[in-house]
Amino acid sequence: MLDAAAIKTISEEARRRAGIAIPQAQTYLVEARLAPVARSEGYDSQADLVRALESSKDDRLWRRVVESLADHETWFFRDPAPLDHFMADILPVLARVKARKAPIRILCAGCGTGQEAWSLAILLEEQKARLGAMDIEIVGTDISRRAIERAQSAAYSQFEVQRGLSIHRLIEHFEPHGQQWVLKDSIKRWVRFERGNILRPSEGLGTFDIIFCRNVLSGLTLDARRHSLRMISELSGPAGYLVLGQGETIAGAGEYYRAMSGARSVYARTMETAQQAA
Ligand SMILES: C[S@@+](CC[C@H](N)C(=O)[O-])C[C@H]1O[C@@H](n2cnc3c(N)ncnc32)[C@H](O)[C@@H]1O
Repeated sequence: MLDAAAIKTISEEARRRAGIAIPQAQTYLVEARLAPVARSEGYDSQADLVRALESSKDDRLWRRVVESLADHETWFFRDPAPLDHFMADILPVLARVKARKAPIRILCAGCGTGQEAWSLAILLEEQKARLGAMDIEIVGTDISRRAIERAQSAAYSQFEVQRGLSIHRLIEHFEPHGQQWVLKDSIKRWVRFERGNILRPSEGLGTFDIIFCRNVLSGLTLDARRHSLRMISELSGPAGYLVLGQGETIAGAGEYYRAMSGARSVYARTMETAQQAA
C-alpha cells in the first residue's frame, strides 16, 4: 500500500515529465498501474519501487513509471466521424493547396499502441485510386516507449482486432501470425512511429498539415493542456488542422485555432497565427 507521501512523489513527477494529471480521487490508479511495473522490475511491492526511485533517481525507471501512469486505452476506428471528415473534406483541400509540391503530412500525437494511425493508413490505402500520385505520410508519436514498440510491431491480438475493425478489413489488411494479426506491408508503408513528448516535441519532427491529438489532453493538467496546444500549433503548417478527441476542446489556445462549423472536434489554424508562421 502506498502512503500519501509516495503518491505525491509519483504524481509530481508524472506532472513534471509528461503533464499527466492524477486527481485525488484516482490515486488508487497509481497503485494499480505501478503493480505490474514493480513486479517486472523485481520489487516486492509498489512501495519498494517508490523507495528505489527516491534513492537512486534512476531515469530509465522513472520514465517507465511515468509512462505506465498514462491512460493507454485505444482501438481501431475509434470515433470515426472526424476520420471520415478528414478523408471526404479536408484531404481534397490539402491536395489542392499543396498541388503535389510537398507531401501531405499527418501527425498522430499520443498515438498509443498505433491503432489510430493504422486506421488512417487503412482509409488511405482503401482510397488510393482516388488519391492518385498524392504523396502522404503519417507520423505517430507517444511518450511511452512500450506503446511505440507495440505500434511499430503492427501486431495485434484477437481481442484488439475485434475492437473497431470489420471482418472485411481484418481479412483485407492483416495476416495471421500465430496468435496475432499483423498488418500487411501495403498498410505499414504509410506510417512511421517515434517516441515523443507532446510537451517538448523533437526539433526534427517538421510541420504537419493535420494533427490528430485525440484522447490525450483530457489526461493532462490544465497547464499541460495549454502548453501542449501551443506546441501543437507550432508543429502545424500555415493551413493546418487539428483534431481533438470527443469532449476535448481548445480552451486556453483559442488564438491558434478556430472550430470548424459542421465538423465536431475539428479545428483550423486561425489566419492571424497562420500568417505569422508563414
Ligand atoms: C488514451 S491514449 C489515446 C490514443 C489514441 N490517440 C486514441 O485516441 O485512441 C493516450 C496516449 O497519450 C499518451 N501520452 C500521455 N501524455 C503524453 C505526452 N506528454 N506526450 C506524448 N504522449 C502522451 C499516452 O502514453 C497514451 O498512449
